[in-house]
Amino acid sequence: MEDIKDLSRKRYLGAKMNIISSFVSEDDEIREMVPVIERFLKGLTANKIIKILKNITGDDSIKFEDLGKNIYISDHMWGSNKDIFKVLFQSDEGNKDIEITVATKREKVPGDITKNEIRDVKTLQKRPGHVVPRFGVETAWGGKKWYVEEFIEGDTIQELETAGKFTTAMRKKIVSCLLSISVGLGGMVPADINGGNFIITDDTNDAVMVDLGGRRFRVFRKASENIENEETEG
Ligand SMILES: Nc1ncnc2c1ncn2[C@@H]1O[C@H](COP(=O)(O)OP(=O)(O)OP(=O)(O)O)[C@@H](O)[C@H]1O
Ligand SMILES: [Mg+2]
Repeated sequence: MEDIKDLSRKRYLGAKMNIISSFVSEDDEIREMVPVIERFLKGLTANKIIKILKNITGDDSIKFEDLGKNIYISDHMWGSNKDIFKVLFQSDEGNKDIEITVATKREKVPGDITKNEIRDVKTLQKRPGHVVPRFGVETAWGGKKWYVEEFIEGDTIQELETAGKFTTAMRKKIVSCLLSISVGLGGMVPADINGGNFIITDDTNDAVMVDLGGRRFRVFRKASENIENEETEG
């Protein structure tokens, strides 16, 4: 048996894991991404994988040895700026009970994932009510930016609307999600408010904004700023 400390210095998947991919799309452009996401995952060190899983679950006790040998990847969504993959980690038999699904996002063109997007997802981690996915890690690879975050199980507003399942209760959840975001961002709100960017979670029916994008608009100023303005004006 290799020592865990030695292993963690090595490339993670090269050292231990198998990648099992099940891409459903027949689209050539998407099929070409299979080896790309595989190589990306293989390039993550054990330490980075553990950091992702700890951040996303909030469970600091997860260890490298707890993970099983297989990682399952599949195509999830092809957005206009990002490709999104679903990646599932499971526990090793007999160890901790782990089943963690992450969303791995890769920009299509350099610059598609902006600094604002990543900064603001991080800022909003601690908001009550889970308004954005829990953040895993950001990295650059192959000339593109990537980041890994919690995979949100549920339907997008767009899907719910198409299926005629969008309710008033859901609309309220979106409004409170956006209000919470605006407080968290000091009065700013993401400009790209569209149905594809919100998911209603299967378990709690909460609205999660899965794509903050780069653009913002201001909905209010902080009280302290108003007082300052008044003082300056007066
Ligand atoms: N964390 C996540 N968990 C589950 N599904 C997600 C997650 N992030 C994104 N998705 C799904 O992938 C789709 C595309 O993701 P995202 O909106 O981030 O990419 P995009 O390229 O910016 O898309 P667009 O420009 O079309 O808004 C989303 O509409 C959503 O269905
Ligand atoms: Mg989007």
